[in-house]
Amino acid sequence: MEVIIKSDYDAINREAAQYIAELVYHKPTVVLGLATGSTPLGLYRELIRLHKDEGLDFSKIVTFNLDEYIGLPATHDQSYNFFMWDNLFNHINVNPTNVHIPNGMAGDIDAYCEWYENEIEAYGHIDLQVLGIGSDGHIAFNEPGSSLGSRTRLKTLTKQTVEDNARFFDTPEEVPRYAITMGVGTIMEARTCLLLANGEGKAKVVAEAIEGPVTAMVTASALQLHQDSILILDDAAASKLKQYDYYKWVYDNKPE
Ligand code: GLP
Repeated sequence: MEVIIKSDYDAINREAAQYIAELVYHKPTVVLGLATGSTPLGLYRELIRLHKDEGLDFSKIVTFNLDEYIGLPATHDQSYNFFMWDNLFNHINVNPTNVHIPNGMAGDIDAYCEWYENEIEAYGHIDLQVLGIGSDGHIAFNEPGSSLGSRTRLKTLTKQTVEDNARFFDTPEEVPRYAITMGVGTIMEARTCLLLANGEGKAKVVAEAIEGPVTAMVTASALQLHQDSILILDDAAASKLKQYDYYKWVYDNKPE
């Protein structure tokens, strides 16, 4: 795992966006796995800036989103579909036919999940998967106890996640209880995983994910078994890492 610690949120976003920009530049047909939540918002703003100010061309990229709430149509302002168009896709020159976001209104969820997996496979693999981390250590919606080999499927959200999400809805009753999510196994097949985390609120769970045991109770810890995972953290999110000084040392002394 490569742990990169930056001073603040803006610096994380610049680092992550630069990484993605280089990928897109070298491989215009790159397959990007994308995430929602407040964490990647700054990254998406920076990608939009690179497109508008520096002409970064997204016309051939292919995207797959990690997850979607079940029961929310794409037009619902809290659906992840709406989020992605509002915060990224409407502002770059992505080809809409190359965008894949799980359909939370699918009739036969199991069949739909199998189709989603097959779609990813049809492109070979995801080149780079962007990830955030939930307050209970989940990636996508792989809640504690999710199999580390899991595939795209329906997942019942924990009370904690429902509570975390309640701030976005008018009433607690409206918060979805179920989601379609890529599995940990699906995510682990991405060539590179790029996890972003910022703020003190994530410090404990980030330390568990990076330095704790690999466990289904903290599904982000599976990244310890990934051959190319990069974690970009701000100082606050990194503050509980035992090896904090070492990660900084490694970054500052990168071999040419
Ligand atoms: C949801 C999403 C995750 C995201 C997490 C953290 O659970 N399914 O992909 O990482 O929220 O969200 P935030 O970035 O707002 O802390």
